[in-house]
Amino acid sequence: MADLTFTTKDLTKLVADVLVLGVESIDDTPTIVGPDTFNTSTLVGLDLRALGASAAADSIVRVPAPQGFTARTIALVGLGEPHNGREEQLRRAAGSATRAITGMESLAIALPATQESEVISLAEGALFGAYSYTSYRSEQSGTTVPVTRIDIATPLARQAAIKKATPRIVALAQALHSTRDLVNTPPNDLFPAAFADLAKTAVKGTSVKVTVLDEKALASGGYGGILGVGQGSTRGPRLVRLSYTPAKAKKKVALVGKGITFDTGGISIKPAAGMEAMKSDMAGAAAVLSTIVAAAKLSLPVAIHGYLCLAENMPSGSAVRPSDVITIRGGKTVEILNTDAEGRLVMADGLVAAGEENPDLIVDIATLTGAQMMALGNRVSAVMGTDHAVEEVLAAATESGEAFWPMPLPEELRPTLDSQVADIANMGQRYGGMLVAGHFLKEFTGGRPWAHLDIAGPSYNESSPYGYTPKGGTGCGVRTLLTLLEDYSQ
Ligand code: BES
Ligand code: MN
Ligand code: ZN
Repeated sequence: MADLTFTTKDLTKLVADVLVLGVESIDDTPTIVGPDTFNTSTLVGLDLRALGASAAADSIVRVPAPQGFTARTIALVGLGEPHNGREEQLRRAAGSATRAITGMESLAIALPATQESEVISLAEGALFGAYSYTSYRSEQSGTTVPVTRIDIATPLARQAAIKKATPRIVALAQALHSTRDLVNTPPNDLFPAAFADLAKTAVKGTSVKVTVLDEKALASGGYGGILGVGQGSTRGPRLVRLSYTPAKAKKKVALVGKGITFDTGGISIKPAAGMEAMKSDMAGAAAVLSTIVAAAKLSLPVAIHGYLCLAENMPSGSAVRPSDVITIRGGKTVEILNTDAEGRLVMADGLVAAGEENPDLIVDIATLTGAQMMALGNRVSAVMGTDHAVEEVLAAATESGEAFWPMPLPEELRPTLDSQVADIANMGQRYGGMLVAGHFLKEFTGGRPWAHLDIAGPSYNESSPYGYTPKGGTGCGVRTLLTLLEDYSQ
């Protein structure tokens, strides 16, 4: 992770390999805009049009620094459009710069942030963008290494609010990066037991306690969903329980994450094309783990119980079949009609276990359905659940700059999950598949306040990178979850 500092220094005196400035369109002309009190007049001579600099999001042009600048070069980044205000716009602009400028040591960023919240957001974006996943490259080619020092130039640098916010900015960025790392890790190395070991490593130095339930413990606990999904793999399933219980906590939140370390579909096997993306089917569990670690580092006064529902969904002689009936923890039986609807089976066990802690709120997060992408595309996640919980998640999402949209649980879809033989089937009507999956999960929440986050599309970016979002794992959900936990800390 790059080192983050804030400075009130004048533009010309910033020491950096690259000085990042923003470009906005004023009177249809691309124009350099800096922080309020900074004088950009020395740059007026630059012909931005001729340089190809533009105000468009993700546009970046690099030029040698003119005489009088201590920085070696200047990068002109397009500021793009506002997203519910200036914060997310600046987050993305800063992130597009740190994502594009690699193989350098130091960056100074001087973007037009006028409020503390804007400065904080742009600092977040800068760290979010300074990421690359190179663990499996045999040669660390210099060009993809993120910068190691980021200096944010702002007249507000010495404000107490900025100082106070810095540990959170850093913890949040670390959580985003570790979520991305987990999602990007190839599934030959990230299988359930390996994920459980990484969870133990991740909480070291914090007060988070970890319990790992292996197959024997899962069997004696009646976790038939996790066991059923995992039984086709030679690498057995696990349930990881994380608990963070600070003395001063007034509220208790349970987080449940889907952790399918690879989803082949099982016997109802998926087509070969695109199956490689199913290494990301554990993005919910990764977000839960990283968020709890961040909450503990920041000593949030809220009790948190996390459940990582880990299994590998494989077809084999020992795999579950369509028409098998399994028993979820607590006794409800499920007829498996499609082994590719496995997420809801492991999540059902996790939700029941979460309810046993009697939390004030249960939030589950899962790459649950392809239908999520049909409905909302690749960049907008869905939230379903009890009314108040959904509102709280939406408020946290807006606050943190993540795109979530509320989805209904229409009552007429519930009977499509009725089974001929068991209490419920794991597949219902195809149309509205995301909502049907939501209905399935709801059966295991015991009527508690609950929100279900379907992040199937947004958790893994198969297209081009943009803003602070790289290709591959994105870290989707972490910001919303951490903000929600902060709201429950009050
Ligand atoms: N992991 C998938 C959902 C998914 C698809 C996530 C694409 C990310 C990208 C999930 O386990 C699944 O296969 N769901 C099925 C359910 C269906 C069989 C009822 C789906 O959505 O097709
Ligand atoms: Mn599946
Ligand atoms: Zn899945």
